[in-house]
Amino acid sequence: MKISFAGTRPSGDFALVLPVAGKNRSALDSLGDNRTQVEAALIRQRFEGEAAGAAELFVPAETGVRRLLVVGTGEGAASAEGAEKLGGTIVSRLLTSGETHAVVDLSGLNYDADSAARLALAASLRAWRYDRYRTKLKDKQKPTLNELTIVGAADDAAQRWKGRWQPVYEGVSFTRELVTEPANIIYPETFVERAQAAVKGLGLDIEVLDGAAMRKLGMGALLGVAQGSVRDPRLLILKWNGGKDGEAPVAFVGKGVTFDTGGISIKPAAGMEAMKWDMGGAGAVVGAMIALARRKAKANIVGICGLVENMPDGKAQRPGDVVTSMSGQTIEVINTDAEGRLVLADAVTYVQRNFKPRIVVDLATLTGAILISLGHEFGGLFTTDDDLANDLLGAGQASGDKLWRQPMADAFDKLIDSPIADMKNVGPREGGSITAAQFIKRFVEDGTRWAHLDIAGMVWSDKPNATYDKGATGFGVRAIDRFVEASVEAR
Ligand code: BES
Ligand code: MN
Ligand code: ZN
Repeated sequence: MKISFAGTRPSGDFALVLPVAGKNRSALDSLGDNRTQVEAALIRQRFEGEAAGAAELFVPAETGVRRLLVVGTGEGAASAEGAEKLGGTIVSRLLTSGETHAVVDLSGLNYDADSAARLALAASLRAWRYDRYRTKLKDKQKPTLNELTIVGAADDAAQRWKGRWQPVYEGVSFTRELVTEPANIIYPETFVERAQAAVKGLGLDIEVLDGAAMRKLGMGALLGVAQGSVRDPRLLILKWNGGKDGEAPVAFVGKGVTFDTGGISIKPAAGMEAMKWDMGGAGAVVGAMIALARRKAKANIVGICGLVENMPDGKAQRPGDVVTSMSGQTIEVINTDAEGRLVLADAVTYVQRNFKPRIVVDLATLTGAILISLGHEFGGLFTTDDDLANDLLGAGQASGDKLWRQPMADAFDKLIDSPIADMKNVGPREGGSITAAQFIKRFVEDGTRWAHLDIAGMVWSDKPNATYDKGATGFGVRAIDRFVEASVEAR
């Protein structure tokens, strides 16, 4: 979507979008002679100006006939959230409508630069789709809308878009691409290749470890998961040094299981194809690093992805196997399907040993149980650090990547004690997301502040929303981006 900002409406052919705030119809003043007819048409469509409500009609114009899209924004002043809803509604209505250019006129509606830029963000995000493998789409199914002009916003809106929100769009789209690609295309090696291509020229430092390098480091937990697959694992490390020289970084660690069959504790066949997106945490980490680098965040950030494929095979690890993690702690692998925590354990140790981060936040599609507690509305937030919890909850709220805090306690930690090793990789079924978080906590070293985000319910959506269609959401990128802005850069 080409985005432009203008002081007045352009000439020529386009669909005109007028936002209407509830009963306040001042946006229709510009319609001149057509106004009475338009008002009547709105009443006939039972349009009440409610947020995301919309009515469409055609009015005479110099170029012949013009599509008019009236979009409700609800009562009250223009807000960033409202602007995102507006941007999303415009695109969901017009993307495949046949219109190629939409002009939204915000004149007189008091959209500040940030709100106008977030309208552009939501419109761009809502227009994102991945049609690479759909070779037989009919012309009518293909998107037509490719340009959005925003008229009448504050002067610095264009700058706000370019400097602050277009980078986030780029990050989220890349995450969605990784999450959407099937597992025969994206596996540890190709995940790294795609990430390398995407970050080229952005000023990020990249390091990559292969299986052999991880063996030298004793990463037995991650390697145990990888050993049933013909795909060699990778550890991908991205560094952004936009902060003060020598200041300890904040680290984001992503679970990157490029396909999760469950391993020998194999999953049922129905719905297993969803496990191509078991790398959504890693995808979000790379997307966030792209956003932070593109907007030149004033912070030192490390993004690290543990990339493996979890397959059953003659070489695969067995239930009951004991593995030694990089931390030296031993783990009894009761269930090979609880693999994400094994991958994270070594990635979390690696990042602490090599970068001494102030804060570690991991993102993982870790448990089915989090879907039972929070559905598809919130990611689960686990930490014993109240300040960090509040910062992340705030970032979730402000960014739209909503989080809800879950409990942690020693009583849950006890549930993963093992009679043969330091711990086992699963607890009882009850509280399954919490024992998973307690497991990761055992790899957090003294003095490191840590939080875990279980995003299993959030990376893929079966229904569209203001900023995404059905499919990959890019969840996590915006929460990280906002957390860095509000709690790392502003510190
Ligand atoms: N990747 C899954 C979690 C998952 C399940 C995400 C369903 C989205 C939908 C994870 O590796 C897993 O299999 N977890 C197990 C843990 C269990 C064996 C303790 C689960 O949740 O069933
Ligand atoms: Mn699993
Ligand atoms: Zn998994």
